[in-house]
Amino acid sequence: MSADTLPIRPFTQPVRVAFSVPGSKSITNRALILAAMCNQTLTLRGALFSRDTQILCEALKALGFSVDANAAQSTIALTGLGGKIPRASAEINVGNAGTAARFLTAFLTLHPAGTYTLDGDPAMRKRPMKGLMDALKTTGATFTFHGEPDCFPFTLHTKGWTHCTALEVDARASSQILSALLMVAGAQPHSVAVKLVGKTVSEPFVEMTLQMLTQFGATFTQPESGLTTFAGTSQLQLPSETYRIEPDATAASYFLSLPMVAGGKVILPEGEQITLQGDIDFLKPLAKTGLTVAKANGHILIEQTKESFEPVEYDFEAISDTFLTLAALSPLLSGPTRITGIGHTRHQETDRIRAMANELQKLGQMVVEEPDAIEIHPDLAELYARADASKHCGRLLCVDTYEDHRMAMSFAILGSYDLLQDGQPWLQIRDPKCCGKTFPSFFQHLEQLHSLPEMNIEFLLIAVDGGAASGKSSTSRGVAERLNLMHVDTGSHYRAITFECLKNGIAADAPEKVAAFLKTLSLDTQLVGRTASIVTGGHLPEPEALRSAEVNQHVSAFAALPCVRDAVKGYQRSQVAVAQENKYVGLIMEGRDIGSVIFPEASLKIYLQADEATRSKRREAEGQSDTIAQRDRIDSTRKTAPLQVAPNAVIIDNSTLSLQQVIDKIATLAIPLCKQA
Ligand code: C5P
Repeated sequence: MSADTLPIRPFTQPVRVAFSVPGSKSITNRALILAAMCNQTLTLRGALFSRDTQILCEALKALGFSVDANAAQSTIALTGLGGKIPRASAEINVGNAGTAARFLTAFLTLHPAGTYTLDGDPAMRKRPMKGLMDALKTTGATFTFHGEPDCFPFTLHTKGWTHCTALEVDARASSQILSALLMVAGAQPHSVAVKLVGKTVSEPFVEMTLQMLTQFGATFTQPESGLTTFAGTSQLQLPSETYRIEPDATAASYFLSLPMVAGGKVILPEGEQITLQGDIDFLKPLAKTGLTVAKANGHILIEQTKESFEPVEYDFEAISDTFLTLAALSPLLSGPTRITGIGHTRHQETDRIRAMANELQKLGQMVVEEPDAIEIHPDLAELYARADASKHCGRLLCVDTYEDHRMAMSFAILGSYDLLQDGQPWLQIRDPKCCGKTFPSFFQHLEQLHSLPEMNIEFLLIAVDGGAASGKSSTSRGVAERLNLMHVDTGSHYRAITFECLKNGIAADAPEKVAAFLKTLSLDTQLVGRTASIVTGGHLPEPEALRSAEVNQHVSAFAALPCVRDAVKGYQRSQVAVAQENKYVGLIMEGRDIGSVIFPEASLKIYLQADEATRSKRREAEGQSDTIAQRDRIDSTRKTAPLQVAPNAVIIDNSTLSLQQVIDKIATLAIPLCKQA
């Protein structure tokens, strides 16, 4: 196995998880351009951090914009300048990011006298730009091509949009061409009419652009099909200082399909709030396969309820990014899969129809390739035979990914199927890092959807993490009560160890003494109500002692020591057995690293947040002297098991929610994950 391939671990148990995905690439990059044209500082929340969004952020910085990106918080703060671009010249590389390529080219023409040189990856140099460039020439912009005509690389001379009141565009090759023009036209202080010549593809993306323009205050009419006339209402402006990015629906399509390969059930929390992205309609072809698709309390639930999966014929034109997800799974369907309306995908990251046909044929499937369609006649027996034969030669089947993130992610789901029924990988993905384009942590997310081997299917494991005073304890106790779960507060484990060390005159700055002491300290459990409390050295510590000012002050320093974390890790994992012995239907464990380190495989991971003022008030109300900010700083910057949002964790900001509301939110997510539900 070479270093640039990744074997995929099949699922040997049905899945039963709630998952989350990073923010939408399409929305993040549109929001960046729209924010740059506003006259305010805007913070994008839930923004995607990936190669394609990084490219756009870097380009905006190179143009003189202030862009403050915080990957840990998934926020990007950008100060817009009302349609002005600070720098009149720049060299920009757009990589292979189609949105950045089209949106930036149009955006740059705003400058009244700019000279910009743009280039992209070899693949980008072949992607269609002509329709956009021809339209932009109406503004007076001119292009000098340094390679092939109408392609990257080129130098662009701009004249601004002052005199441009109408333009025509041919966007047959890519809807991004139309979206790019609409955004810039919609930001003009005067009326501009954009006329589409012919049709475009992927119309939901144009719809997304128009909806976002409306959110940003643009007004327009569509007097006839293909004509959008902007009223020219002075200035793009949002009523709020933050803009929430929806989770990426295309990225979600991979995990929504998991029950087909693993059995069981997955939940996309608050999936019904995905309204801007057409790709959420992937649920329709998914339902046609026979998977059960349901909606409850705003969440989307997908469950495998039938043994075999129906063949599907579906027009993917409107949701073409997701065609690869279904195509890669076609070997598992009981008849031919026919996917139409995807001719334009031959000009995307790669020729996607060709790439898909090649790889499925390598896996022994009969594929009919058409100019704008693909038909796959499944042959699971042949796939098995090839995987088995490879295994006997000590190899795995290998899928090439053509620098296309969607090829990698789609086939990873097929590889998650336990084809050889031995739980061992049979498929590997070449160049898994190509996912970095839109979903750098994809494989980490996938890995964490495997459940714990020692857990039986009926057992529900919930991890709750968050900073000091984020409401973990009261929330976790409430959920435990509601769902009959055992509750574990891991903060008390670190507090008990801190208390014992301090009592014995051992300080955190003497780690070797702490390590030696811990070797002599027994850790046991005693149930107090439904809370499993730690018993150190045979004693159940007094709750007041664990919350003393001295323990508050020192606990984070002790918790940062690797020897302390090692000592408690096995103990914390053993609480599953305690809960099972005591006949609880599950376990809710709270702390700082439960979703990320202790139980990355938890069915449901919650990350609780609240603003600092709210948290300080909570501690004051409890009559405690606590150094919340200082503890948070130590907890989130330490090397071992830092406080962080675990992959797949559902973030709940409870600053303005009551305790009951938070408990309700978690319970509505957890209940469908219970076996009986
Ligand atoms: O949750 P509580 O405030 O009781 O936690 C006390 C301290 O224990 C935290 O500030 C942190 O330093 C440590 N802790 C940890 N990992 C956990 C739980 C708590 O490091 N899983």
